[in-house]
Amino acid sequence: MKAVTWQGKRKVSVDNVADPIMLEPTDAIIRVTSTAICGSDLHLYELLGPFLDAGDILGHESMGTVVEIGDSVTALKVGDRVVVPFNIACGQCFMCQRGLQSQCETTQVREQGSGAALFGYTKLYGQVPGGQAEFLRVPLADYNTIPVGTDLPDERYLFLSDILPTAWQGVKYANVPEGGTLAVMGLGPVGQFVSRVGRHLGYEVLAVDPVPERRAMAERHGIETWDLTADTTAELKERTMGRGPDAVVDAVGMEAHGNPVAGFAQAAVGFLPDAIARKAMDVAGIDRLAAMYASIDLVRRGGTVSLSGVYSGEADVMPIKTMFDKQVSLRMGQCNVKNWIDDLMPLVEDPADPLGVTDLVTHSVPIDRAPEMYETFQKKHDGCIKVVLKPAGE
Ligand SMILES: NC(=O)c1ccc[n+]([C@@H]2O[C@H](COP(=O)([O-])OP(=O)(O)OC[C@H]3O[C@@H](n4cnc5c(N)ncnc54)[C@H](O)[C@@H]3O)[C@@H](O)[C@H]2O)c1
Ligand SMILES: [Zn+2]
Ligand SMILES: [Zn+2]
Repeated sequence: MKAVTWQGKRKVSVDNVADPIMLEPTDAIIRVTSTAICGSDLHLYELLGPFLDAGDILGHESMGTVVEIGDSVTALKVGDRVVVPFNIACGQCFMCQRGLQSQCETTQVREQGSGAALFGYTKLYGQVPGGQAEFLRVPLADYNTIPVGTDLPDERYLFLSDILPTAWQGVKYANVPEGGTLAVMGLGPVGQFVSRVGRHLGYEVLAVDPVPERRAMAERHGIETWDLTADTTAELKERTMGRGPDAVVDAVGMEAHGNPVAGFAQAAVGFLPDAIARKAMDVAGIDRLAAMYASIDLVRRGGTVSLSGVYSGEADVMPIKTMFDKQVSLRMGQCNVKNWIDDLMPLVEDPADPLGVTDLVTHSVPIDRAPEMYETFQKKHDGCIKVVLKPAGE
């Protein structure tokens, strides 16, 4: 089959690889009809190379049709149309029972000290072959599939695999008081949905991104936006009676613009031998923390900062004095996808499309164009905001 594989820093290719085979009676194989490229994939493309091997299959936002099921699979049948959550969980352990599927104790990658295994996401998360491919093996398939109807197009459902529940969790964790103000740092795909979820839940939403067409998309959905300048924080504070918003969601993560020193360190690590680079990234903490720092600075005293953006340095310096003095609450983590599906399914199926899920994709292309699309998405060329690959054709 064709699959998108990681080959090195800023290098992916579409290769012919062996089709996945059933390994456990609880597996299913799906034929992938749509699979998106995520901002998290850009971290693999740019930064997390030391944790990948050349040939690893990428992708964790996929949906398709079940083509094979193991003997122990009871909830699915061949031909079912399903979305596949990016975290692999069991649905039965202590963590899953508490809605913490990203910490599943059955799939935790203990040798790396990591939470639940993820599709297509490095040795840190189990090195499980991903879904940017014609076929995908889904472990524990009864739990790790979300059955969907046959009438609506893939784009209505696809984002249930990751960014829609991620945005929902980011807003829930932000703990905004009723009718309160939510600031959103970053208007990539995650920030777009964070903003729309915030509005849908009745909050005033103020969003920041340096890219004009991303701000324009948010404005189409009634969001007030700001460019990223030296004055942005001051302007947002002024806009919120000098106090700052009740909560801030950081939808940027560790590749933020605006911290050149850490940027230099990241580039240097990208060119070190793997073993040394892994150590440097784990211990030295070379994330770019600009968006998180701005969020902590901006939020009002007693407010909440919710990190949807991914951070991965073990020794990052936190502004603990400011956080303590301002009495800031901080929440974060990978999304617990299955925990939020019951809230989201009625919204994505609503004919009125209240979260505007059909207004996000800017590029829908055959899988062969993946290498070019990784570059276009990373460089934000050609108005690119969200890319969907179509391994089975349109
Ligand atoms: N927690 C989770 O489970 C989860 C799930 C999906 C994605 N993510 C993470 O969310 C983050 C965003 O993903 P995405 O797909 O939207 O990616 P993206 O890279 O397209 O979006 C990031 C956006 O932030 C903007 N930006 C950069 N620096 C900024 C700054 N200092 N202030 C304000 N905006 C800034 C960029 O212009 C861009 O539009 C990534 O870190 C990704 O890994 C987390
Ligand atoms: Zn993703
Ligand atoms: Zn579990």
